[in-house]
Amino acid sequence: MQTSTIKFDRYQHSSEDECQERILAAKEKLGSDLVILGHHYQQESVYKHADFTGDSLKLSRYASEAKARYIVFLGVHFMAEVADILSRDDQIAILPDLSAGCSMADMANLAKVERSYRELSKVLDFDNVITPLTYINSAADLKAFCGEHGGIVCTSTNAPKMLEWSFSRRDKVLFFPDQNLGRWSGYKMGIPLDQMPVWDPDQPMGGLTEDQVKNAKILLWKGHCAVHQMFREQNIKQFRQAHPDGLVISHPESPFEVCLNSDYVGSTEYILKTVSDAKKGTRWLVGTELNLVNRLAEKMKSEDKTVQFMSHVICECSTMARIDPQHLAWTLENLAEGKVVNQIKVPIKEAELARLALTRMLEAS
Ligand code: 13P
Ligand code: SF4
Repeated sequence: MQTSTIKFDRYQHSSEDECQERILAAKEKLGSDLVILGHHYQQESVYKHADFTGDSLKLSRYASEAKARYIVFLGVHFMAEVADILSRDDQIAILPDLSAGCSMADMANLAKVERSYRELSKVLDFDNVITPLTYINSAADLKAFCGEHGGIVCTSTNAPKMLEWSFSRRDKVLFFPDQNLGRWSGYKMGIPLDQMPVWDPDQPMGGLTEDQVKNAKILLWKGHCAVHQMFREQNIKQFRQAHPDGLVISHPESPFEVCLNSDYVGSTEYILKTVSDAKKGTRWLVGTELNLVNRLAEKMKSEDKTVQFMSHVICECSTMARIDPQHLAWTLENLAEGKVVNQIKVPIKEAELARLALTRMLEAS
């Protein structure tokens, strides 16, 4: 007889220690039926249970190569969607807490992108002059839009390469939803700032004149990450004054001036690798999410490296933090009983088109 799923209420007040034990027991029971993928911004209490960790690009590849029946994602909604899109039909992608979204991804939606694309096609007089390029931090229907309109997806690792891919096909790019990643990547390719105006989807014609649109190479969607937006050039200046030999590394979702004044800019995986590979005794200022920085700081102590967070304000990704031991224990114990909770399933047609855009990216990276 089919019994119903175990309700989350039972776990809500469970202690962390109890949840840790239950997670380990359920993992053991599930064996090779389960793979847990964890993003670097996850809190340590769940991150330590990941079989594989990485940035968005690395985790997409793991998802596409996973053998296990259940792919449990310790991350945010768009990441679990990508896991569903890139995995086999008989695999199940799961997000332990459905409220773990990405506020930046929510800054673009299909209705606004479609309207923007229509408006742009009119000013530019002919179709197919713009490639839609979406950051992987976006909903599946936007990836599908890119798949359908000759566009592509990028991550923080490969954004300049995906821009090159786009320019080799069409003159212009509509880049969404993160203006900071788009601007930094375009700048690295040598595109002047005045050819990368901000496109405000809530204003007619993006708030731009016809000439600005015609002159643009990249139209930067008016979106940003609230966590990385907190970092300031001033933080870097103060650090350099106090530690002239110190090194600065930032994520490309940070404001342009922060990237410009950093010694290194790259994805979460790149940040971890660069600091880990650096010489003993070096001192670092790191501009990315707090959980990653705290974990890195702890790990580097044994090599006498100092890792300092870029802001005085706590910049934690509150939605990433929704995945806690309680939700993970609940998810895994249900799976161990053969019951699936919080499955992320992208509709078939949408998944096909989104897969097209993601596959273009994986092949071009
Ligand atoms: P990475 O792909 O560099 O891990 O970035 C994902 C993200 O959401 C950063 O805010
Ligand atoms: Fe989204 Fe920013 Fe959180 Fe990354 S850190 S998941 S971009 S809100």
